Amino acid sequence: MGGVAACWPVLSLADTSLRDPGLGRIAASRGLLYGSVVRGTSLERDPTYSAVFARECRLVVSGGEMHWRNVSPSPTSTDFSKGDGVYSWASDHEIKLRGHALVWHGQAPKWFADLPDRDAAIRALRDHVHAMCSHFAGRIHSWDVINEAIQTNNRADSLRKTVFLEKIGPDYLDIAFRAAREADGHALLTLNEFGVEYDDRDGRNRRRAMLAIIDRFRRGNTPIDVIGIQSHLATEYNAKLNDRSLADFLKEISDRGLKIMITELDVVDRASPSDIPTRDGEVAALYRRYLDVTLDNRAVIGVVTWGLTDKDSWITRGDSPNFRRADGLLARPLPLDDHYRRKPAYEAIAESFRTAPLR
Ligand code: XIL
Repeated sequence: MGGVAACWPVLSLADTSLRDPGLGRIAASRGLLYGSVVRGTSLERDPTYSAVFARECRLVVSGGEMHWRNVSPSPTSTDFSKGDGVYSWASDHEIKLRGHALVWHGQAPKWFADLPDRDAAIRALRDHVHAMCSHFAGRIHSWDVINEAIQTNNRADSLRKTVFLEKIGPDYLDIAFRAAREADGHALLTLNEFGVEYDDRDGRNRRRAMLAIIDRFRRGNTPIDVIGIQSHLATEYNAKLNDRSLADFLKEISDRGLKIMITELDVVDRASPSDIPTRDGEVAALYRRYLDVTLDNRAVIGVVTWGLTDKDSWITRGDSPNFRRADGLLARPLPLDDHYRRKPAYEAIAESFRTAPLR
């Protein structure tokens, strides 16, 4: 690492001047919100990290700090302090906060599966959503109320077989959204999902399943404001990205009166060449193409990248084997490199924001 130390510090005064507004302010100039998921501990301990996020974001997402199993490791304990920490950083910097995620099978507390019956499960779900939403009421821009509810080739209704579905049934979705609205009348309530970005058979099925949930919510008066599209993209799937069908899908959502957010955008570069300029170019081109298509729909109110720097990404960490490069090189999925330097992806995102239709 000796050689790269010369790159630090990376923040000069010029970076924070009006001539260099950061992605968040560029997006804001078109009426859009831009931000990133953050790590509370890094905001506290790493001044460079904190300064870069403050410069680039108008919205941050608290993930780990808000997950159910972290907030309530046992049925009788709740600890909001980590989420409060992210909130206080965000409010000190006049940055909005997005909560992720109230109900997600990936972060369900272990004890939930042991609840004796449906009534107990409903009570626990409602209490949790109520507790979180009342605690953060007035301080949250939007909540991912349910994360990743869909799984195709599974059940006729394409709902994922989660512990929530097993214990409660399909109306766990409605119960959660209603409890959220009761506790906070202002936060935008989001159904967040992956796998609807691409025009392959599974993607098309997932899109249909999502529209069916929205229609069911509408019929039953279940409150919902936003569809979150995670948007974990990969250059290897470029052939499956169909601009027209993606735009049509977004229009199906906006025609139903809902807003849309791009909630976890990043790009897996596994199929792109080792050579960095070529690789960065392919990643940037995908960012540009995807954002140009999605931002063209004015119902898209915001964009969140799943991190800002390559050193702090689940893709670079190789959380899934699908992320790892055959050449062993580190992935380069985000707008800034691992020394917070802006990459072509940054410029691509900025350019998509600058040319987006005004909201
Ligand atoms: C990821 C986190 O970024 C990682 O730190 C963690 O190891 C796994 O989860 N969909 C989601 C996010 O909704 O919460 C996931 O985040 C990525 C997939």
